Amino acid sequence: MASFLCHLVFLSLALLASANGFTVPLKRVHRSPADFSHPGTPTCRWATATICAFLYISVGTCSDHTYGFSAYIAHISVGGQKLGVILDTGSSDLWVVSSNCTGIDCSGVAKYNATSSLSLSSYNFKLAYLIGTVSGSIGFETITLGSYQITAQVFAIANETRGLNLSSAGNSGIMGLSFPLSAAIPATAGKTILENMFAYFDEAHRFFAFRLGRSSDDSTFSFGQLDSMLSNSTNDFTRTAVYTGTGRHSTLDYWKLPLHAITLNSSTSISSFTPSRVSGSATPIAVLDTGTTFILGPTKDVDAFWAAVGASRKLGSGQWEVQCTRAVAVGFVLGDEHTKREYVIDPEDVSLADGSPEEGWCTGGIQASDGVNSGDWILGDAFLRNVYVTHHGATAHQPPQIGLLNLTDPHSTLARFQSERGHDSSDPISGHPQVYSHQGHTHLNAPAICGIVLVSAFIVGALLSLVAQWYMQHRYNVRKDSTMS
Ligand SMILES: *[C@@H]1O[C@H](CO)[C@@H](O)[C@H](O)[C@H]1NC(C)=O
Ligand SMILES: *[C@@H]1O[C@H](CO)[C@@H](O)[C@H](O)[C@H]1NC(C)=O
Ligand SMILES: *[C@@H]1O[C@H](CO)[C@@H](O)[C@H](O)[C@H]1NC(C)=O
Ligand SMILES: *[C@@H]1O[C@H](CO)[C@@H](O)[C@H](O)[C@H]1NC(C)=O
Ligand SMILES: *[C@@H]1O[C@H](CO)[C@@H](O)[C@H](O)[C@H]1NC(C)=O
Ligand SMILES: *[C@@H]1O[C@H](CO)[C@@H](O)[C@H](O)[C@H]1NC(C)=O
Ligand SMILES: *[C@@H]1O[C@H](CO)[C@@H](O)[C@H](O)[C@H]1NC(C)=O
Repeated sequence: MASFLCHLVFLSLALLASANGFTVPLKRVHRSPADFSHPGTPTCRWATATICAFLYISVGTCSDHTYGFSAYIAHISVGGQKLGVILDTGSSDLWVVSSNCTGIDCSGVAKYNATSSLSLSSYNFKLAYLIGTVSGSIGFETITLGSYQITAQVFAIANETRGLNLSSAGNSGIMGLSFPLSAAIPATAGKTILENMFAYFDEAHRFFAFRLGRSSDDSTFSFGQLDSMLSNSTNDFTRTAVYTGTGRHSTLDYWKLPLHAITLNSSTSISSFTPSRVSGSATPIAVLDTGTTFILGPTKDVDAFWAAVGASRKLGSGQWEVQCTRAVAVGFVLGDEHTKREYVIDPEDVSLADGSPEEGWCTGGIQASDGVNSGDWILGDAFLRNVYVTHHGATAHQPPQIGLLNLTDPHSTLARFQSERGHDSSDPISGHPQVYSHQGHTHLNAPAICGIVLVSAFIVGALLSLVAQWYMQHRYNVRKDSTMS
């Protein structure tokens, strides 16, 4: 305990370079589904192995299905050693694997070696995952992020990992950028890296921004400034206070926003959702999470979504697939009552062809998960690739805010998708604005269809016989007339 007080007293923040923040590249990495298929090893369905761990802790969703994923990695320096970490807005701890980790599971990645600037605490660290574990000790070290340096940053040093296979994504750890409340490392041990970074910046520059791209090298992470390729002013963004709830239920844990509706091709709108699990919230709550590959929502809502899209199927595993040619612009209406607007996502993020599309079926970018505890929906990379997002720390006058800037133009992306994927032979989505509710669906089953066919046949038959009767009679009359002349 004495050593903690010591660290708190001597925690100093030294500014290295620019006072205007920095922008660093992020590398997008892929991992193929095959990597997960070890018999008897349960793996996470919608998230990375490593991220799944955090997903499991933060949002508690894991299952025994397999799928590939992608993740975004940045390089940071820990005690002067360069390490690649996944930047994760869905968790709040920093951990890296140490040279004391000698097992096969943590092989093949750069490992942190103890330095003279390392001090170890008496705390141990263990994160239990459905798929495996990370464990070790908690220490303090000099961390450099972009051009900023933090001395005596609390972090976790993993000397053992199980079930993560770090080498497949190539990351040596994870850096969480969510709020202190969702950190696993106790607050008494020290401030999170985000708190320490925010402390560097004046109120106008107290933010970080993510641009998640599609290729391996078109993604950036910025602190205290914007990526000038995309925007030069925070006024370009629609800013909404991070959802915390009110009164007794008020919690500031993740980067959350109210979700009002999901639109399909701007003609159909799904706005009748299952009630929010966040107490006191009138709408579903969406959590922005760079560490999750997909968009995840409650099963009932996701099923209604894919039923509305059409040309889709649900596998026995619960995974949704969609025909690779299905061209639909999906929009998420996000914000509070004053700031809500639609953010459309690229059809490529609705129909993921990343894996090996089988007989024309692609993996849906939107999948069901009822294990989300942090909110109702998780807007992972499939959503985040379509917006430029700023995350603002609290100021004297404002609570933390999320800024969103739309990057996907619905018309040009749909046209490009259609020319790449080819003709969509399935029925188009009906063009009338409609509200879907879960109770309102009437599906025709086989007996009903049979019944309708029989009744129709009967009516057609009756009409035909009436026509025939009239014809015979008419002919008879004509003949009668002719014999009269
Ligand atoms: C840690 O030390 C080993 C052995 O000296 C070295 O090979 C490795 O590159 C070091 N790790 C880092 C991240 O520098
Ligand atoms: C590795 O273990 C040794 C012995 O327990 C310890 O002194 C050293 O600090 C550890 N290294 C790291 C990077 O945790
Ligand atoms: C990892 O570190 C913890 C805590 O320092 C220790 O109890 C454990 O034995 C270490 N495990 C390995 C594999 O070195
Ligand atoms: C880990 O991932 C690599 C690269 O994707 C793969 O070749 C290897 O078989 C995996 N190892 C284990 C133990 O899962
Ligand atoms: C931001 O400013 C720079 C330098 O003036 C300019 O090159 C760039 O195009 C601007 N970016 C945007 C998105 O307008
Ligand atoms: C973002 O939305 C604005 C306002 O609706 C629109 O003018 C702009 O073209 C959109 N940006 C893109 C890239 O589609
Ligand atoms: C969505 O709109 C586009 C452009 O209007 C159209 O070509 C496409 O067929 C529509 N998709 C569906 C599934 O109705």
